[in-house]
Amino acid sequence: MKELRFPQGFIWGTSTAGHQIEGNNIHSDWWEFEEKGKIYDGTKSAKAVDYWNRFEEDHRLMKELSYPAFRLGIEWAKLEPEKGRYDLSALNHYRKIFDSLRDKGIKICLTMYHWVLPLWVAKAGGWENPEAVNWWTNYCEKAVKEFAQYPDIWVTLNEPLVPAAAGYLGGEFPPEKKSFKSFIGVVAALLRAHLNCYEVIHANTSSAPDGTAVKAGVAQAYQWIEPWGSKGLKGLYERFMTNLFRLGSFEAWDKAICSGRLKFPLRRSVEIPRLKGSYDYSGINYYFRFSLRFDAGKRGEGLIDRDSIPEGIEKTQMGWQIYPKGFYLVIKDNWERFKKPIYILENGIADDKDLQRPKYLLEHLAQVHRAIKDGCDLRGYFQWAFTDNFEWREGFAKKFGLIECDYKDPNLTRKPRKSAYMYSEIIRENGITEEIVKKYSPEAEEGVFGKSPALFQRL
Ligand code: BGC
Repeated sequence: MKELRFPQGFIWGTSTAGHQIEGNNIHSDWWEFEEKGKIYDGTKSAKAVDYWNRFEEDHRLMKELSYPAFRLGIEWAKLEPEKGRYDLSALNHYRKIFDSLRDKGIKICLTMYHWVLPLWVAKAGGWENPEAVNWWTNYCEKAVKEFAQYPDIWVTLNEPLVPAAAGYLGGEFPPEKKSFKSFIGVVAALLRAHLNCYEVIHANTSSAPDGTAVKAGVAQAYQWIEPWGSKGLKGLYERFMTNLFRLGSFEAWDKAICSGRLKFPLRRSVEIPRLKGSYDYSGINYYFRFSLRFDAGKRGEGLIDRDSIPEGIEKTQMGWQIYPKGFYLVIKDNWERFKKPIYILENGIADDKDLQRPKYLLEHLAQVHRAIKDGCDLRGYFQWAFTDNFEWREGFAKKFGLIECDYKDPNLTRKPRKSAYMYSEIIRENGITEEIVKKYSPEAEEGVFGKSPALFQRL
């Protein structure tokens, strides 16, 4: 019988973020951004899927579906809506959320920062204000002390290079700046923010709730980035840009955290005392591959087209390539560079009708399994996302949920998609069986159980 079994104790979960599901994050920079009409589909996070009030119902559903772990976030803007003033009712409310999870035996993975700042910090210059890291650290002291007993896994920052690049270099996220200097400054600030948060967590916790060691780290966005493969000079340029993209997307950060020194080409390096080794695991968020293609028309984008899709490759509703092998390559590369336990903290697909998701999920999990078989110390997998949610500049148009939830439905009814049940079965089996593949996505058979000889072909 064909099957892929996962190691005993492997952690299965779903993932999400405060601002994207809770609703009413009114004292935040994203709230103001949305009010200014910046979201492409014209929606606003508003009450989102009202997790703030419906958490009990969601946790019950999680329990019914046998999802053993949940990655969620807390919002700085809710907890400290004004400088130095902590909102006790928000603190108590988060405690109720955590208690509800704990009572149901659902493990907690807690994200401290997922891109959203309190408006008072944003108005003072956001991460560019030299005081911002101190404000953040004070906040961490408070929040970590309050919630120390709950998380099994701590995520200090989610994908720090995304708000740095999209907010300060690409002008896509608040504060919509386009400055390389600002970008580098913010990356350095976020490295310090991570370090301080990491130290606060360790100073205030001695073990995880299950008695194992405290686990704190970053959830980093990894894409598998490749050159398109054009001939001649164009090809050379694509390869050069691939290295640059890798550097800007994750390597500069990763190297800094391994060496204690942030270095960008042609810039003076910045040393950050105690940074070196300040992580207990490596957190991977993986969604897709980039194939970088030379395009003389893309002057504003470094003569590179990132959106072209090689023939035969399917794309998602986000326009992203579906490339499960890239997942394996990212994990393998990560393991070789860090040699630390790995948690997959996000992986998923926008698919409102759930037509591609079963196959996507099965084939990506098969690559996780392959990486484990090849010796990577991979401890858990969190599927993004539990319910549909507010997808940043894309608004509510993109549907990443295992559970469908239409923000326009006054009852915000939670409707598990087919994939939600499939994920349940995988978790109960602690693996992928032939029956599961046959039942949910027979077309994934080759991608799940096949040998995949083309794995290293393009390297
Ligand atoms: C982010 C999530 C986002 C997801 C899908 C990740 O990069 O952490 O907040 O919803 O991608 O775009």
